[in-house]
Amino acid sequence: MQLASERAFITTISIFTFWLKSLSPLGVFKNRRVLLHDYTPTRLPHRERELNELKNYFGPVLTEDVNVKVHVYGSIGSGKTVLCRRLGRYLEEEAVKAGKKLKYVHINLAYTPKPYHVMTKLMDQVSFVESSRSGLSPEEMLAIIARSLSREDYRLVLTLDEVDTYISEGRDPSILYMLPRVHELFPEAACRVSLIYVSRSLDWMAKLDKATLDTLGRVSAVHLGEYGVPEVRDIVGYRAEEAFRPGAVSEDVTDFIARASVGYGGVRYALELLLEAGGQAEMDHAKTVKAEHVRRAHALIPKGADGAYYPGELSLHKQLLLEGVINALQARTEPYLSLDDVYSAYRIACEEYEREAENKPAIQTYLTDLERHGYVLLVKGNETLVGMEFPPARLAKALKESLEHALQPLDKH
Ligand SMILES: Nc1ncnc2c1ncn2[C@@H]1O[C@H](COP(=O)(O)OP(=O)(O)OP(=O)(O)O)[C@@H](O)[C@H]1O
Ligand SMILES: [Mg+2]
Repeated sequence: MQLASERAFITTISIFTFWLKSLSPLGVFKNRRVLLHDYTPTRLPHRERELNELKNYFGPVLTEDVNVKVHVYGSIGSGKTVLCRRLGRYLEEEAVKAGKKLKYVHINLAYTPKPYHVMTKLMDQVSFVESSRSGLSPEEMLAIIARSLSREDYRLVLTLDEVDTYISEGRDPSILYMLPRVHELFPEAACRVSLIYVSRSLDWMAKLDKATLDTLGRVSAVHLGEYGVPEVRDIVGYRAEEAFRPGAVSEDVTDFIARASVGYGGVRYALELLLEAGGQAEMDHAKTVKAEHVRRAHALIPKGADGAYYPGELSLHKQLLLEGVINALQARTEPYLSLDDVYSAYRIACEEYEREAENKPAIQTYLTDLERHGYVLLVKGNETLVGMEFPPARLAKALKESLEHALQPLDKH
């Protein structure tokens, strides 16, 4: 008897909860995930011409026995990474339609500071069989990759993203020697490896020695111009359509976001602002994103020299350094850290993420770079001190995600 009344009580509660839920307004988001940095949208407004240019360059890879090398370059947030990933998806789809095998691999060289790391990532994706890499040199790994491509009859299109960061941090340029020459080193890979070099400007090539420069060979180039307000407005409008419920973001709000973002890094900041403004609207249980939500979001997002802090733009060791600085600052009440404190905190971060720590002079150079981008504050006197001007909580969260992404074995696209 008691059991029946308990059941009736639970049923009443469930009906009441369901009714309450149906009364509460729907959130503004349809799919928040599509605004995150690693999402590749189907359309790229204002990059159709460049995408077609790349499709034309890479078309013969599917139909003829050729390999292609292309530079994609343009300023910060001009869509280089997303464009290459979009091309990769297109090429893989076209290959399936044509009954051919093609693999697109995207490696961010700013996260892979040694040829060993680059080849490991590549091997993870194209060796097709589980093969041990312990004790293998980068050349030996490349040999396995070349053999696998030939055995499985695969074409590889490999994007080396942020090659300029890799070279400007003085990393071993031998990958830029090995990869374009893979056909000479391993004839079985002939015509199977095509390359895309991605950079903010082509200046990095001036830092290469002549032999490496010569092996890059004849490389076509696609330049991505900067977006202005009209382009950012269209891109934000399209991305909002994908992320929000119909009617949740008006054209006025899209325009406002685009204009507010101009001085803070353009489209990258605009998408961050759109996401945060959506969050503000949800907190208010609002059905639409209003100008007030955008203003609030704009004020809430801490900014550096390039707009919203985006740790994904930093190379792996700069991210580890920043992680160390944040941890050390959060553990104490004083505003500054000494260089020794920073270095030990950085080493702890390296241990946590199982990466070999770099030497002190390198860390000092990275600190200067972090200061230039507004991530840290350096006080120079007899002794250099390191501080941070804004509450680090938001950055700390983004940094954790970014480090996990940078260190995951497979770079998904
Ligand atoms: N034409 C576009 N359409 C839709 N989204 C875009 C477009 N261009 C850029 N984006 C988005 O803007 C953000 C910045 O683009 P992306 O990361 O590709 O720039 P980038 O040139 O690689 O920048 P960086 O030099 O910092 O690496 C990403 O979230 C990307 O998805
Ligand atoms: Mg990029």
